[in-house]
Amino acid sequence: MSAAGAKRKEAIGPRADVVDLVHNTPISCSMSDLSTQLLDELSVDEAARPKAPPVPEATDMHRQQGRQLAAIHSHHLREMGQIGALLARIEAREAPPEQLKQLVLSLDMADNFRAFGSLCGRECQVLKFHHDIESADMFPRIEVAGGGRFREIVAKLKAEHEVVHELIIRLSRAAETLAEAPSEKNFIQAGNTFRKLEEVVRSHFGYEETELEEAIGYYLGLI
Ligand SMILES: [Fe+2]
Ligand SMILES: [Fe+2]
Repeated sequence: MSAAGAKRKEAIGPRADVVDLVHNTPISCSMSDLSTQLLDELSVDEAARPKAPPVPEATDMHRQQGRQLAAIHSHHLREMGQIGALLARIEAREAPPEQLKQLVLSLDMADNFRAFGSLCGRECQVLKFHHDIESADMFPRIEVAGGGRFREIVAKLKAEHEVVHELIIRLSRAAETLAEAPSEKNFIQAGNTFRKLEEVVRSHFGYEETELEEAIGYYLGLI
């Protein structure tokens, strides 16, 4: 394994280092169940999502402040959209669609595969950072400030984070493999994992930013 690969593996390892900053205790994780599931089976179970309790005291100003999270999410989704566009360009190399013909890829496909792998690896780190802050700081603060009323939704959001984290681990590994052996097979593996992660993250972001909008604005103010 390359030095960069070893460093990435260390950065995207299991979440034993994640600490609940309010209670100063490690956040327990149950990644083992998820690690055995097929990619297609991994799901955030949208049907089981509870609604957040209303915050009657919240004003429009609070809701506007709460939309900071949606703005942060949009930024991540834009970055993932750009990676997805690169993935589509590489996949379309045999017969590029009209609108993609002007976009030039390297003549060496291995270079293109490596570029995709490197962007995926970077995105994994950024997403992990975002979710670690939420799990370790934002969620506990909302739970405490809401006097337990947000316990159910926070538990659901944390459960969704475990699914996202499992996908981050898989994509990080796939990206590392692709960097070391930029073959068609490894490219397909990384591409499929990226698409699954994007689908799950998009769904999770939408739920989280909608349900926590009032609570973030009213209880936390700036995040
Ligand atoms: Fe989240
Ligand atoms: Fe988030």
